[in-house]
This record gives sequence, structure tokens and C-alpha cells, in this order.
Amino acid sequence: MTYAAPGAFAPVPRIVSEARLMEVDRPTLVLDVDRVEEQFRALEAGLGRTRIHYAVKANPHPKIIERLVNLGSHFDAASRGEIELCLSQGADPADISFGNTIKKVSDIEFAAHVGVTLFAADAEEELEKIAAYAPGSEVYIRLIVENSQADWPLSRKFGCKEDKLMGLLAHARDLGLRPVGLSFHVGSQTRRADMWTGVLDHVAGLWHAARAEGFDLDLLNIGGGFPAFYGEAIDAPAVYAARVMALVTERFGDVPRVMAEPGRGLVAECGVIIAECLLVSHKSDLDAHRWVYLDIGRFSGLAETEGEAIRYQFITPRDHDAHGPCILAGPSCDSADVLYEKRPVSLPMSLRAGDRVIIRNAGAYTSSYSSVGFNGFPPLDVVVL
Ligand SMILES: Cc1ncc(COP(=O)(O)O)c(C=O)c1O
Repeated sequence: MTYAAPGAFAPVPRIVSEARLMEVDRPTLVLDVDRVEEQFRALEAGLGRTRIHYAVKANPHPKIIERLVNLGSHFDAASRGEIELCLSQGADPADISFGNTIKKVSDIEFAAHVGVTLFAADAEEELEKIAAYAPGSEVYIRLIVENSQADWPLSRKFGCKEDKLMGLLAHARDLGLRPVGLSFHVGSQTRRADMWTGVLDHVAGLWHAARAEGFDLDLLNIGGGFPAFYGEAIDAPAVYAARVMALVTERFGDVPRVMAEPGRGLVAECGVIIAECLLVSHKSDLDAHRWVYLDIGRFSGLAETEGEAIRYQFITPRDHDAHGPCILAGPSCDSADVLYEKRPVSLPMSLRAGDRVIIRNAGAYTSSYSSVGFNGFPPLDVVVL
């Protein structure tokens, strides 16, 4: 069973019909928190007894956090600011994990002080900081995994290679911490559940080896990676999550505690961005492609167009007209602010300055990536329905 966002014959989602009519004076992200709830319930249905720790970085809007608290979600926080946000919306500190492997000492101290007890680490010094400022805490060790199949890979910067694992677990234990488990991230926007198999095989081998060495691991953190619809068919969230869990169980057996940290898969489809076409131009009368400039770009919310990795879908008032390819760019005076050029985008040939352009499924990693005043442009506004 596959899942695709509505096409020509499907009803227009509420969020799109509202975005068509809404009065705005700058690029605006419109969020439908009821859709967050739907996604949460669907993922929960597929993940079974796995605990969902929402990756707050994907979209830290307080209304999203509040709704997820009410739904019984747990949270993956990257900083003191995200922990404070979750607490301000009623989260129990026991339900918050501090998943960044690069933490400020003062943030560790704050987290421990408010009652957070679960921390990520991938290096000796990080374990020493945690032992000093959050003594006795539970830690999980993040592993580097190879995955070239994700559209937005998260390799290299986070995690340790497998040769470090046993030493780090032993170091944690010697420091008086409780090394309870392992974590990894398969890579964001991993479109098919079967793409997880190689990574799961690798981590399962290390998991069983660590247990054989006498480390009493009982927590497996499978991270994020759950996809959103950006034009290519993906499985429905419940189906995808159930398949991932079947793959996990086949390899790890009955792990007492499994946690997942979906970000994109929970919130991307819950938001659309209202943008405006500022200019359509040809660099030469001989050019095959138009350049289309929007009032939003790489620095004002669409950072994930880097490398043309995440390919957003667009709705315009002229979609019934003939389409043709164009190079799409943002408004700033920075030549890196080109969104899609290697693979041009198909937009109506009749598109012109002043037209509203709605960017679908843009609820993840947009508002939080928007610069505050680059070139004097205001940050992405956010409106909750
Ligand atoms: C530690 C951690 N967990 C979860 C996520 C969320 O990943 P995704 O949005 O692919 O679900 C991220 C994303 O950067 C992350 O760094």
C-alpha cells in the first residue's frame, strides 16, 4: 500500500484551502496541529510499544509540543532551550531525552537539575561531562552508520565507529553512569522501510556483541528517518513503521525498551508555506529555462534544498495552464540562494510576479532554519490553524 498526497481527484486538504485565501504580508508557514495528531497516531499504530520521542528540532512550535504532550509523546531535545520548551508545555522531564552528542556543560547541568535522566554520547569527553554534571544518569552510545540511501543523510558528524563502542560503554560504567543502550540514525527521509536493513544488520551485530561482553543493554534508540511525501510515493506511516519494527524484531529480538525519534515524518505534512513569485526572467533570449524567483529561499526556511536534496511540491493559481521547466531561486543577494537548478522544476508557463505559490508538506525543518534578518528579510512567519 502506498501513500501519496492528494492528486487531481483527491479532496484538497484543509490546510491548502485555508492557505489559498489567507492574507499574509511575508512568507508564512501555516500549521495544522490536528494533522500532527493524525501522524502521531498512525506512527504509534505501526511502532507498537516503541516509545515516540518527537525530535523537537523538526518544528519547535509550542502548539505542536503541547498537542504531543497531551497525546503522551516523549521528546528528543537538542539543547537547554528545547528542554525548557517541552517543560513549558507540560512535558514530564522523565519523558525527555537529551539526544545531542555535543552538549554544553551548563545545559547538562540544567537538564539534570530539572530531572532529565537520559543522555546521548559518542565520545569519552562527553561521557566525562555527563558523569560530572548529571552523575548516575542513563546514557546510550550513538553509532555512525553508513547509509547512502537517505535523501538527507546524517552520517559522519554524529556517532562513533564500531571500534570505539566497547571502550565507551566501559568508560561510562567506570564513571558511574548507566550505559543502557545504543542509538543510530538511518538518515532523514529514508523513503522505504527496506532501506533500513543494512543499518539494522550492522547495529544488531554490535548490540549482541556488547551484550556478550557483559553490558546489560536494554534500550535501543532507532532514531528518525521516517519519510514525508515530497512527490515520490512512500508507504503510509503506520505501514512503514510496522515494517521497520518487524525488521528490528527479526534482528534484535525482544528488546525491553525501544525508542524512535521521528521529526520529519510527524510534522512535514502538517504545514504549507505561503510564498509569492517575485520575478520570472530569462537570462538570454536563447535560454530554454526561465528563472523564477520566490520571496522565500535557502536562507529564509528552505535550507533543505541544499544539494537539491529535499524537493518540495508547489501549488499555484495557474496550475491548469501548460507547464515548463524553470530554475527556482530565492530572493536574497546571495548566489547560493538557488533552490533547484540541476533538476529544474516544472511550473506553469503563465506564472508571473505577484502570484501566490504554496509549498506543500513544508512543516519540517523550515521555520527553525529561517534566518532572522539576512538581507533585511523578515523570518518565516508561522500561523497555526
Ligand atoms: C538525534 C536525532 N534524532 C532524530 C532526528 C529526526 O530525524 P527525522 O526528521 O529524519 O525523523 C534527528 C534529525 O536531525 C536527530 O538529529
